[in-house]
Amino acid sequence: MLLALKSRRTIRHFKDQPISEEQIHKIIEADRYSPTATNLQNVRYTVLIGNTMREFERVSMAAIRKVIGLAKPFSSAAKTTRIEDDFLFHHAPVAILISAKKSPMDRFGADVNGALAAAHMETQAESMGLGVLVSGFTIISMKISRKARKTIGLERGEKPVACLVIGYPSIKHRRIPPRKEAKIRIR
Ligand SMILES: Cc1cc2nc3c(=O)[nH]c(=O)nc-3n(C[C@H](O)[C@H](O)[C@H](O)COP(=O)(O)O)c2cc1C
Repeated sequence: MLLALKSRRTIRHFKDQPISEEQIHKIIEADRYSPTATNLQNVRYTVLIGNTMREFERVSMAAIRKVIGLAKPFSSAAKTTRIEDDFLFHHAPVAILISAKKSPMDRFGADVNGALAAAHMETQAESMGLGVLVSGFTIISMKISRKARKTIGLERGEKPVACLVIGYPSIKHRRIPPRKEAKIRIR
């Protein structure tokens, strides 16, 4: 298990190969038994495929480009950053948006529950030979674009937490990457 976790890498290049419904259900099943704050079991999964996925990416990229455009006079990074149309999903066949319904019982549980979901589902997908990209920009685009949120159909009080972009990898990483030392406190 530890070796599998240490060899995990972000995948941004995917084969033109579909993922079956059964595989998607298996990945989601990996989260059903995760702990949730006050046992809320409030995590939701939106599976993006086909035209909806492409439309979401188009709408989101328009919003991201608009924000970068506004930042150009103030930021040299914004001036030089070039982002491609497939910047969010890299032609992957599936993206699963993980959201969590906020609860007055537990104000911070949504983030932790969603993050645990992302971790467990990512590990499950990799154990099935799939590659995963955790797409933070997808969550940012949902924060800045009402149109993007509408494409997903989020309900009131439902917070987007993480997005897993999933497909068969078309590249192979052969090395475990160097990491910072763990900062551990024992008291
Ligand atoms: C919360 C989160 C958001 C991320 N967002 C993006 C993203 O929007 N685009 C991207 O290409 N990579 C994204 N990544 C992947 C990181 O860039 C990647 O994990 C990091 O560079 C280390 O590389 P590795 O995963 O291959 O070890 C994200 C990772 C996390 C955990």
